[in-house]
Amino acid sequence: MTEVDGTPNGWLLLTRGLTKRFGGLVAVDRLPLAIRAGEVRGLIGPNGSGKTTTVNLLSGLYRADAGEIRLRGERIDRLRPHEITARGVARTFQTPKLFGNMTVLENVLLPALAELDRGGHRPRPKILERARALLEFVTLDPQRHAMAKELSGGQSMLLQIARGLMVSPIHLFLMDEPFAGVHPTIKDTIMETILRMNQEEGVTFLIVSHEMATLRRLCLRVSVMHEGQLIAEGSFEEIANHAAVLEAYLGR
Ligand SMILES: Nc1ncnc2c1ncn2[C@@H]1O[C@H](COP(=O)(O)OP(=O)(O)O)[C@@H](O)[C@H]1O
Ligand SMILES: [Mg+2]
Repeated sequence: MTEVDGTPNGWLLLTRGLTKRFGGLVAVDRLPLAIRAGEVRGLIGPNGSGKTTTVNLLSGLYRADAGEIRLRGERIDRLRPHEITARGVARTFQTPKLFGNMTVLENVLLPALAELDRGGHRPRPKILERARALLEFVTLDPQRHAMAKELSGGQSMLLQIARGLMVSPIHLFLMDEPFAGVHPTIKDTIMETILRMNQEEGVTFLIVSHEMATLRRLCLRVSVMHEGQLIAEGSFEEIANHAAVLEAYLGR
């Protein structure tokens, strides 16, 4: 393998045989995912097809029963969530996980606190500058001293996104249904933030969403899951004409 910037042949993330069982149910079934550095990849599939479980495996929240996950060539499937974050993987949760009794700005600063604890060398003024710039992008800077619990659902999603982007260096951002139930204005802000971070900072994204029209504006390629398996992958045109995809969505 040729390595460019620690990324074998341009693959940022590679999984092989990735499997997660819940009792008798195989929620993720020998999943092979391959995402290039700099990609914005969509992940779709009917309800219960294993998308959230996949994100939970990639972020270390769940331990795989079988298979491997490689990030920039390194096995990460036995690491704990904070160790995976330290390697540049951020995520959002479908139901925002924030510290409600901390301010918006304090929530954004949390990844930097973990970074300082690891002996990070980013100077504090730089950290604060970055936090403010990210809050500015996601339109929350005016609310930076409000308690996180005062935010709407959509604003909470924006805050989760700003917080994820504080991870430094950031390579991969995993988003689980970031557009679900958010106001169209906030949806636009989320889309702009994804595109901007992808273009300006080369952040790679894996975005779980049901919103095809939105994904189409963000992603060149989508991966389709059904009953834990990867059943198709390709451009929207390829996916739309794929028999297995139609069958998965329309039923037999
Ligand atoms: N913690 C869990 N315990 C037991 N079953 C689970 C758990 N999480 C998910 N599942 C099951 O695994 C399957 C995949 O779920 P999930 O990954 O949430 O699907 P999706 O996000 O695609 O809707 C579903 O059948 C779901 O009920
Ligand atoms: Mg889900």
